[in-house]
Amino acid sequence: MTWRVIVGTISFVITMIMLGFVAVTEQDRMANFSVAYEARTVETGGALFESNCATCHGLDGAGVPAKGPALNTPELFNGARLTEANFAGTVDNFIRLTIAGGRPRMSEWARAQSFIDPMPTWGETYGGPMRNDQVDALTNYIMNWGLAYQGGAQPTAEPVVGVGTDITVELPPGDAASGEALATSQGCTACHVLSATGPAWLAASDPNDQGIGTRAALRLEQPDYQGAATTPEQYLFESIVAPNAYLVTDNPAYINAATGQSIMPATYGALLDPQMTSDLIAYLMTLK
Ligand code: HEC
Ligand code: HEC
Repeated sequence: MTWRVIVGTISFVITMIMLGFVAVTEQDRMANFSVAYEARTVETGGALFESNCATCHGLDGAGVPAKGPALNTPELFNGARLTEANFAGTVDNFIRLTIAGGRPRMSEWARAQSFIDPMPTWGETYGGPMRNDQVDALTNYIMNWGLAYQGGAQPTAEPVVGVGTDITVELPPGDAASGEALATSQGCTACHVLSATGPAWLAASDPNDQGIGTRAALRLEQPDYQGAATTPEQYLFESIVAPNAYLVTDNPAYINAATGQSIMPATYGALLDPQMTSDLIAYLMTLK
């Protein structure tokens, strides 16, 4: 045997050992993977996360200083973040809504951590680049991290008892500061402040220089107004919980051409409790 054959044989053996090792661990990895949470969408979510989110949140979700917070952290899954963000709903929804709508106005919590840029808007519903199934896959991918902290269970906050769609019910007194925070956490600002997906809330962005707090009263006087509201506050209530009761037609893009319905989700009556609704109305009324 020449030394070439010996070297050749040794490297062949080493290569086979390594290939075998990779195959075994790969099998292990895949087995673990498929028992985990919705393996397939998790995998798609992982690829999307790597290419769109890792720059700010880190490949492993541990966060990146000055860029984005940690997501692979028990606080996100044990309810602590929900409480801090004043979000009534499930962790799953909190994550999905944040990804879809982004946080065009950076939260106090994020400002305190000195992030430079806000969380971008991703969902196409809010004018972002991703389809709903991609937002779902990302949500599943992040929820999968939570299993490590939960031993398999998905934590949920107290379910919200929605305010409903009857605008004659009496609401508790509203708090404008809390309403401002809700406008961000519920995704409203993505359509009404950051983009022109919905009618502008701020006077500076409105062609007639009216904030929504002023416009609410004027809408009631419009000859084409068909809703049931009799006061500006009620008009805002109606706009939030029953977007189709009166459709603002200033811009054809506000209406889904296929269904004739508002682009605004008609689900807020179920997502917001009476206090949250009242807080949002109080905030909108300050935007003269
Ligand atoms: C430019 C940096 C940046 C990119 C890119 C980015 N994020 Fe964020 N993300 C942030 C910042 C900053 C926050 C905190 C926002 C706030 O609270 O105002 C955040 C918040 C979040 C939160 C909520 C965390 C919490 O505890 O409130 C989730 C979930 C999230 N991002 C997921 C994603 C996903 C998924 C992607 C990719 C599709 C992504 N992010 C891309 C910067 C980024
Ligand atoms: C996906 C985009 C989108 C989101 C999210 C959204 N809206 Fe809207 N909103 C619209 C559109 C489009 C209209 C105009 C069509 C109509 O009348 O519903 C509208 C109309 C309104 C109006 C009436 C505006 C006017 O000029 O008379 C109010 C008030 C309002 N939305 C409040 C809210 C609040 C509060 C939230 C969050 C709880 C919210 N919206 C979330 C798109 C959105």
